[in-house]
Amino acid sequence: MTMAMSIAQFTFFSRATSSSFLNRTNARFNRFTFSTPFSTADATCTRKKNGRLPVLSALELGGVKIARDDVVRDDPTNNVPDSIFSKLGMQLHKRNQHPIGILKNAIYEYFDANYSNKFDKFDDLCPLVSVKQNFDDVLVPADHISRSYNDTYYVDSQTVLRCHTSAHQAELLRDGHTHFLVTGDVYRRDSIDSTHYPVFHQMEGFRVFSPEEWEASGLDGTSYAAGDLKKCLEGLARHLFGAVEMRWIDAYFPFTNPSFELEIYFQEKWMEVLGCGVTEQEILRNNGQLDSVAWAFGLGLERLAMVLFDIPDIRLFWSNDERFTSQVQLIDNFTNKKGMTSHCYRIAYRSMECSLTDEEINELQRKVREQVETKLNVELR
Ligand code: PHE
Repeated sequence: MTMAMSIAQFTFFSRATSSSFLNRTNARFNRFTFSTPFSTADATCTRKKNGRLPVLSALELGGVKIARDDVVRDDPTNNVPDSIFSKLGMQLHKRNQHPIGILKNAIYEYFDANYSNKFDKFDDLCPLVSVKQNFDDVLVPADHISRSYNDTYYVDSQTVLRCHTSAHQAELLRDGHTHFLVTGDVYRRDSIDSTHYPVFHQMEGFRVFSPEEWEASGLDGTSYAAGDLKKCLEGLARHLFGAVEMRWIDAYFPFTNPSFELEIYFQEKWMEVLGCGVTEQEILRNNGQLDSVAWAFGLGLERLAMVLFDIPDIRLFWSNDERFTSQVQLIDNFTNKKGMTSHCYRIAYRSMECSLTDEEINELQRKVREQVETKLNVELR
């Protein structure tokens, strides 16, 4: 596959950093470079001569060493292929220049600013969990479809690749955490298309309230927590998107009641971006929180990042090409005596399919400059 690209550079002055995350991300990942069509998912991955992706033999995850043989086994209860094992160590959410990492940090920013750093953050918990952690601890019924071999990757009959970050709720509660965010890769057997991939990333949010917190409001604990949850997530959506159309849908999860889904309008349809609700009392009680109420949410990072950065296909997140994972580079940054800051960015313009002509690149560059000037309120040079 031929790939052409061109590097362009431009510098601008700004007096203050812009307030909305959307503005800043547009400067880093502009829509033109992401919307280029492409044909195959792994087009830019390093391949071995036989066409297979190289598979590492051991990984260090969550402080634990995991050998390939621990995860991929010739055993009737094991349904983890090499292609999935190779994703275990990628940890896209820990790469600060990757769209998934950028989004994680933007959500952290929102919680740090609004809850004065009260939320404890976990992004290194091991994705291999017990059936108990993944299902029983969060009250998933014994006959629930999500437990099937068809839906979940089993390492053995008692161990799975977590299918949601909710798998960590119980242990963190038992450890005494009352405000936490858990980010991680999650695994679900699924067919692949532009919006589905068997590995994706979630962030779990969890907040416990003690009786004093809701008693003064005159509301019961459940209504108080539900109201607080919706306010929190609407604020998050505004922090990320500015104005975006959203709606709440009643939902069902075994671990929350009431339960809701938040949908966002994207590419002419409503897209589910998160599930949430008021935590079942049984989970709190089982894990040392006797008189409390709590809310929880689980947010799909790929789905949100696709909307936010105009990424047309979920498979692009797995590209190894630096020109995708780190397209825009700040190469110079200084503040002059008058207090004006100058940034110089280098942008890689490229198509995954064809050579771009000078005219096409000039047009992209013109549009980027125009958007940067209007949206970021800066002076271009
Ligand atoms: N774990 C749910 C999922 O993966 C999301 C969720 C998390 C819903 C927490 C409610 C509360 O779909």
